[in-house]
Amino acid sequence: MNRTDGHARDGERGYPLAARMAGRLAFGLRAPRRRILGSEFAGEVAAAGAGATRFAIGDRVFGTTGLAFGCHAEFVCIRETGRVAHIPEGLTYEEAAPICDGALSAISCLQPAGLGGGKTILIYGASGAIGSAAVQLAARHFGAEVTAVCATKSLELMKKLGAHNVLDYTKEDFTQNGEQYSVVFDAVGKHSFSKSRDSIKPGGCFLFVDGFGNVPRSVWTRWVGDKRVVAPAFTMYNQKGVYFLAQLVKAGEYKPVIDRVYPMTEVVEAARYVDTQQKTGNVVLAVA
Ligand SMILES: NC(=O)c1ccc[n+]([C@@H]2O[C@H](COP(=O)([O-])OP(=O)(O)OC[C@H]3O[C@@H](n4cnc5c(N)ncnc54)[C@H](OP(=O)(O)O)[C@@H]3O)[C@@H](O)[C@H]2O)c1
Repeated sequence: MNRTDGHARDGERGYPLAARMAGRLAFGLRAPRRRILGSEFAGEVAAAGAGATRFAIGDRVFGTTGLAFGCHAEFVCIRETGRVAHIPEGLTYEEAAPICDGALSAISCLQPAGLGGGKTILIYGASGAIGSAAVQLAARHFGAEVTAVCATKSLELMKKLGAHNVLDYTKEDFTQNGEQYSVVFDAVGKHSFSKSRDSIKPGGCFLFVDGFGNVPRSVWTRWVGDKRVVAPAFTMYNQKGVYFLAQLVKAGEYKPVIDRVYPMTEVVEAARYVDTQQKTGNVVLAVA
């Protein structure tokens, strides 16, 4: 279960009018268009079409249905050419179910920044689903020097995920410490380009997952100033992207962080917890 489920359920309540309107168009005008939410899954193939060649009954698979939802259920139907892949060896269903969402969002944001070659990145909101994937991928896959910003309770976790430096935002404001980074990534939609501008090196950039105003900013900062706002590139939302995530897991470069596993009978409690915006990594619904 993830924040996208929450957005679909409440129609972006609490967000600015433009975001609410866009949310209603995407998810349904009066109520969620898809009555069964859930955009990620893991389980065993129960049936396969006669022409299926990539997967067979009994295979252990994971994947994402994206905005088609439907995964908070016992069965989900997906094309074999869709966003589905075999679960890497050694992962349970609970561990495999949240592989996609945070990591695909993180990759779509990180990819256009051209990390590597000694670049430094500060990740704000590093303990969320997207943030905890971004810390691992930036450090272990893209080869950047990572500074993770989170509350006190997640500092140790950040080091385990590969962060080179950690900052506790309840004790220190990174915009005031005089440090500059090649990239600042707001992975939780709680910071801004204007507030973090002085913490970005000349020629560097600001990445975002949320915030309507960032889209026009990503256009005009191409021509004005020496620090850019860079919009996500949604190139991995296909089967290639899911296969790529499986490779990253196998290579030890990424493993989703799991905060809590709820049985399906406690779906309401799970949704309430996700809506607190305080989960660490991911929340999983176990069907069996
Ligand atoms: N995951 C998705 O499906 C998805 C897809 C696209 C976009 N988005 C958007 O991307 C954003 C992040 O999504 P997510 O799923 O990664 O979020 P999330 O898992 O709900 O993020 C929770 C984390 O945010 C941190 N946090 C909460 N308030 C904070 C603040 N004021 N400053 C710094 N950190 C704060 C908390 O960490 P601390 O305990 O350290 O405070 C908590 O661990 C959301 O705005 C979401 O709507 C999500």
